Amino acid sequence: MRIVDLKIQDVAFGGKGVGRQNGKAVFVPYTIEGETVSAEIVREKKQFAEADLVDVKESSLDRVTPECPYFGRCGGCAYQHIAYEHQLAIKWRQVRDVLKRIGKLKDVPMRPIIPSPQQYGYRNRITVHAQDGVIGFFRRDSHRLIDIERCPISRDDVNHALSELRAQQQVRDGHYTLRASPSPRVFSQTNAAVANALRELIVGLVAPNQQLLIDAYCSAGFFAKALLDKFERVIGIDWDRFAIAAAKENASPKETYIAGDVEDVEAAVSAANVEIAGDTAATTMIVDPPATGLSANVRKAIVDLAPDALIYVSCNPPTLARDLKELCEKFTIDSVTPLDMFPQTAEIEVAVHLHA
Ligand SMILES: C[S@@+](CC[C@H](N)C(=O)[O-])C[C@H]1O[C@@H](n2cnc3c(N)ncnc32)[C@H](O)[C@@H]1O
Repeated sequence: MRIVDLKIQDVAFGGKGVGRQNGKAVFVPYTIEGETVSAEIVREKKQFAEADLVDVKESSLDRVTPECPYFGRCGGCAYQHIAYEHQLAIKWRQVRDVLKRIGKLKDVPMRPIIPSPQQYGYRNRITVHAQDGVIGFFRRDSHRLIDIERCPISRDDVNHALSELRAQQQVRDGHYTLRASPSPRVFSQTNAAVANALRELIVGLVAPNQQLLIDAYCSAGFFAKALLDKFERVIGIDWDRFAIAAAKENASPKETYIAGDVEDVEAAVSAANVEIAGDTAATTMIVDPPATGLSANVRKAIVDLAPDALIYVSCNPPTLARDLKELCEKFTIDSVTPLDMFPQTAEIEVAVHLHA
């Protein structure tokens, strides 16, 4: 395959730098906008090409030395070569650009990105894979495993669990989720400090003295339980019955948690015996779906339920943008706040506040 010299113009969502060759976009991982690099084209499509970095000829002032010996081979991190402040600037820009490109949303009220206090050593859980005696993560762009002794973005107690797994005589092939003890076996946010900042942000966005909160995809009630003071009634829905059991522990009479599919959110709300028709002006809905975002049914249900305020927490800006495109026919965006839940990786968390 051929080697080309490129000027990197941008870092696209997903983490790869973008240059142009004869007008065609060429994606090169581990580069920074402004850099001149040589890269080997490894995949050529009609509209774009993919290349591997060969050499950085003119380096960005934001280029730093990665802390992890596996960086560049492991599929987990994409930005360890970029100074943290600049990672934040890139992520903020990517959110704005994805909302514009996919959501057709212009001039959105973007707030500053909330950084992570810890740039390494923050992950409170990892899933490693074991096959034929190799224990680690998948290689970049591949299903082959790379043997990992220590993951620098993970907490010490998670790395301790990894050492213990690796020390076992025989580890069966399969997937192993290693958690910082004593976290429960239900969904919990990966970076505790940024999760708390997200929860505080949401508490600040929600008006006091309301009637009803619907927390869809609530897991163990991480958001709902922080908002109890502001509502007369709280309904949480999640299909993970262990998470719902955890949410029900110590629940006050105003909290109702339902083990069910958010697809049936309207039925769940009426089964909880809550009358919200009539005075929707006192209802807030939070949605925090998985990376796939909201289904067409759920988007329609949200429009039908017509809450006064909607808070959409997303771990995947492209599906967020797709959903907002439709929801913005009924709702107006008050603020978009990116959060850096996953420093060194290309992942971005976003909280969007809307009103009817
Ligand atoms: C991103 S997590 C949100 C967790 C929660 N907001 C928190 O901060 O702990 C997504 C949650 O959605 C749940 N989930 C995914 N799809 C669902 C569906 N169709 N119906 C109900 N729950 C669903 C999962 O079990 C998981 O707990």
